[in-house]
Amino acid sequence: MPEIVTDLRSDTVTRPTQGMMAAIAAAELGDDVFGDDPTVNRLQDRIAALLGKEAALFVPSGSMSNQICVKAHTQPGDELLCDANCHIYSYEAGGPAALSGVTCRTIDGDHGILDVSQLEDKIRAADDHLVRTRLVALENTHNRGGGRIYPLEKIQAISGWAHENGLLVHLDGARLWNAIVVTGVPAHEWARPFDSISVCFSKGLGAPIGSALAGSREFVQRARRIRKRFGGGMRQAGLLAAAALYALDHHVERLAEDHRHARVIAEAVADTPGLILDPPEVETNLVWFKVDPDWATGQAVAATLRQNGILVHIAAPQKLRACTHLDVSAAQTEKAAQTIRQSLRRLAPAHSPDP
Ligand SMILES: Cc1ncc(COP(=O)(O)O)c(C=O)c1O
Repeated sequence: MPEIVTDLRSDTVTRPTQGMMAAIAAAELGDDVFGDDPTVNRLQDRIAALLGKEAALFVPSGSMSNQICVKAHTQPGDELLCDANCHIYSYEAGGPAALSGVTCRTIDGDHGILDVSQLEDKIRAADDHLVRTRLVALENTHNRGGGRIYPLEKIQAISGWAHENGLLVHLDGARLWNAIVVTGVPAHEWARPFDSISVCFSKGLGAPIGSALAGSREFVQRARRIRKRFGGGMRQAGLLAAAALYALDHHVERLAEDHRHARVIAEAVADTPGLILDPPEVETNLVWFKVDPDWATGQAVAATLRQNGILVHIAAPQKLRACTHLDVSAAQTEKAAQTIRQSLRRLAPAHSPDP
């Protein structure tokens, strides 16, 4: 097997660059549980300003960030409305139920995107038998939706309706940076319709660890207490905040490069019989594709690519994801596209013809 040359499994696999390591080494530190790490405070102030919110909180991961927000917005026995494929429901180990006693009422979005008309009849009546509908959670860009960007007018319609009906609205913006770069719509515009937002530094921005949540001062104060309870209070966390600040300075605009690379990979997938891009258009850095079960298994496709030095993520038996990021160069992208086009032609069919 050749040495792995290109890891397209996720944008979380990046290693800190030398510049980022230098920023980490130079970070001014303090004990953030006491609130006196200057680098963490600088990052929190910057995120609050960027997102146009009163306050922000640095947390270890995107999952913790989302789950803190769910807990801070709800009481046990409440319900949240979300797309069936969203990260909060699908990929956070049952967090809403386990950590907040919250049930998720899932709705099938169009590649993760909900329309307000799908939500309008989903608020439970005030009745002693029923859960209380409390929160709507959206995701932008949508990971399992194929990296799709939520149309801003759909977000505004959902948020307007939710607030008129006494619901709160949370955004999982793990990859909001990608949406900002594609659309040119600034972070605070995307954030305005939401009561809370979570953003990640450890995906496309290339930091090793760290996310942040933002909202009103009062909300963030509650979130801080929940972070402590969840075990997310970190001490000299300025080391990590320095990486996040460096990423904000150096790694946002360059996401456009990842998006270009993703389109190159997507073209190779589209040119390969037996692979089906899903969704057909690639808007950001995630390329999701299905494998025709009459041709091959997802495992077989991934194994063939692996033998040829390309790693992809197997998300479901017939569903794969390739993801471009900071550690994938233009040359690696071209090579990966060529490998997809050439190596899979030689793949044996999943079902041998009858003898
Ligand atoms: C959309 C989305 N939200 C949240 C997360 C969770 O982030 P973390 O891995 O830092 O917990 C991810 C992780 O990939 C994600 O894709």
